[in-house]
Amino acid sequence: MKIAFIGIGNVGFAIANNLQKIGHQIIVATNNKNSDSVKNASQRNPEFEIKPVQDAVNECDIVFLATPFQANQTVLSGIKFNGKPLVDCTNPIGMGTKGLKHGLDSEKSGSEVVQELAQDAKVVKAFSVYGYENFIDSSFPKYNVKPAMLICGNDKDAKAKVSFLLEELGFTATDTGNLTQALHLEHMTLLWVKMVRVNGHHPNFVWAYLEK
Ligand SMILES: NC(=O)c1ccc[n+]([C@@H]2O[C@H](COP(=O)([O-])OP(=O)(O)OC[C@H]3O[C@@H](n4cnc5c(N)ncnc54)[C@H](OP(=O)(O)O)[C@@H]3O)[C@@H](O)[C@H]2O)c1
Repeated sequence: MKIAFIGIGNVGFAIANNLQKIGHQIIVATNNKNSDSVKNASQRNPEFEIKPVQDAVNECDIVFLATPFQANQTVLSGIKFNGKPLVDCTNPIGMGTKGLKHGLDSEKSGSEVVQELAQDAKVVKAFSVYGYENFIDSSFPKYNVKPAMLICGNDKDAKAKVSFLLEELGFTATDTGNLTQALHLEHMTLLWVKMVRVNGHHPNFVWAYLEK
């Protein structure tokens, strides 16, 4: 597939790099070729193409959004997605008096906001419930089970495309339902972040989906 990345920092690069290594064509979608993350990404993987955002979106089969949540209003403004899947990896994270909290006060999910900002895209929340360390390396050779990647979205075909990529990358794609489920996934992210970044759990710990 041709896959465009808006945002090529920790998260974007880790996913794009692994997708490129298994044969996908990666386009870094940016209107600022001189940004640090874009220069860093193309040095680390010279196979990446770099194109203006709208050109990259027009050409690709699927778009990843891996930018700071607060930047999304600016980042998504004016882009025409023409019905393409948009994988929302972003998380609204806030800081309250008791520490980490949902950045939208748990009133709605960040992914529903992304869907409002990109109305002609088919938003799928994915690659959001772990730190980027698990996107660099998703293998758990000592276990006979793959890490679960919980996803959600309103469009079946878009979720199928994202699930295909997830399985190729070594995850069990777990469809949790429509986009309103994103609020619950964002709370799972907060739990993971608190456990790892604050309480010292290992950054390569993951959730598994076991079913009888
Ligand atoms: N870090 C994690 O472990 C993790 C895991 C899962 C999900 N997430 C979520 O994924 C998203 C990205 O996180 P990250 O750690 O990859 O961040 P990061 O390393 O800071 O990378 C952010 C990327 O977004 C770009 N960007 C920032 N502001 C922009 C703007 N106004 N317009 C266009 N591009 C802009 C940056 O480009 P420049 O170089 O030009 O600034 C960079 O390419 C966040 O929403 C985060 O909550 C993070």
